[in-house]
Amino acid sequence: SNDHAVQSIDAEGNFPISVEDMESAAKQAMPAPAFSYIASGAGGEDTARKNTDAFKKYSIIPRLLNDVSNLDTSITMLGRIYPNPFLLAPIGVLKLADEQGDLAVARAAANSNVPFIQSTVSSYSIENIAQAASGSSKWFQLYWAKDEEISFNMVKRAEDAGYEAIVLTIDTITLGYREKDLYHRFSPLAQGYGQGNFESDPVFLSKLEEIHSRTIVESIVDNINYPALDWEHVKELKRRTSLPILLKGILHPEDALRAIRYGVDGIIVSNHGGRQLDGVISSIDALPEIVKVVDGQIPILFDSGVRRGIDALKVLAFGADAVLLGRPYVYSLAAGGEKGVERFLANFLQDFQTSMMLSGVKNIEELRQMKIVNM
Ligand code: FNR
Repeated sequence: SNDHAVQSIDAEGNFPISVEDMESAAKQAMPAPAFSYIASGAGGEDTARKNTDAFKKYSIIPRLLNDVSNLDTSITMLGRIYPNPFLLAPIGVLKLADEQGDLAVARAAANSNVPFIQSTVSSYSIENIAQAASGSSKWFQLYWAKDEEISFNMVKRAEDAGYEAIVLTIDTITLGYREKDLYHRFSPLAQGYGQGNFESDPVFLSKLEEIHSRTIVESIVDNINYPALDWEHVKELKRRTSLPILLKGILHPEDALRAIRYGVDGIIVSNHGGRQLDGVISSIDALPEIVKVVDGQIPILFDSGVRRGIDALKVLAFGADAVLLGRPYVYSLAAGGEKGVERFLANFLQDFQTSMMLSGVKNIEELRQMKIVNM
């Protein structure tokens, strides 16, 4: 990594290229506790570290002389065609990185043809985002609320706003033990960064009055901690929406198979970027066995640790269908706002396409057949 990191796009239009430089630019642009909230993992951060390290032990073996002049990066998934095998991972409290938060990210995603997955605890509401990035592909991520009418109403709002899928996050039934945030006594939810979807929700507000000893933020924190979540809730969610449902946070092959039995439309192999349980398997190490048992029955998406085009190539070579980008886009948001996210996405897509060509694959199906080895 060089030491020319800049805090934002300067007059000459310079913006960090490498993810390491984007991260240092983000670090300079934010108060220490906020940067640490984004960058750190749970516990001793072993899983967070493994997520990125584990990629390095895998290598692909390219096939050459395959005329890659007409590259096709599109995929078909859940009955739709997506121009790229990428989505932006659901990340809450984005106002921490930039005042425009999710609004800026959703706009940049729309301009880059990359679907945006909006978090339950986003800084702006579903309706705000739908308006700011109309006509683009958007999904909604659900943290199940203890008071489930709140969840069902949010899902309905996402349906009404034209969102295309519901992502139920299953690894966050209670917040991970994040030592750095505890040390800083830093809770972005408690500070009001994640209430965009709640502060205008009539169902939530009516419940707030019923419980009236609670503030909005206290009620959000209480509601999204829901250790009772189980497979029956998945069944109930299926009854409540006609949108495809994906489960985010699958690491065990048996849970992947169970998701199929419960009629789930897709899974996201993820360990939440190492932010939930430190000591779980890296996401990329968990992937091959899951691909094997799922055997093409439902789409497999992936996140945690993807930093460069070649990482995404490895994920797809293992047989996943699509890749979610996480922290890197938050760093680009902190470093350069909406334009920063656009720059990051353009760079990432270019890196990915270059890597595809040099691997000798011209479309994602060929890429998914590519030889990948652990050496
Ligand atoms: C997240 N993630 C997350 N996931 C989710 O389902 N709902 C959420 O609100 C959030 N919020 C959130 C905030 C921050 C600051 C981070 C870094 C992550 C997890 C996210 O969707 C994804 O799983 C990870 O970011 C993937 O790991 P990498 O690639 O960022 O290391």
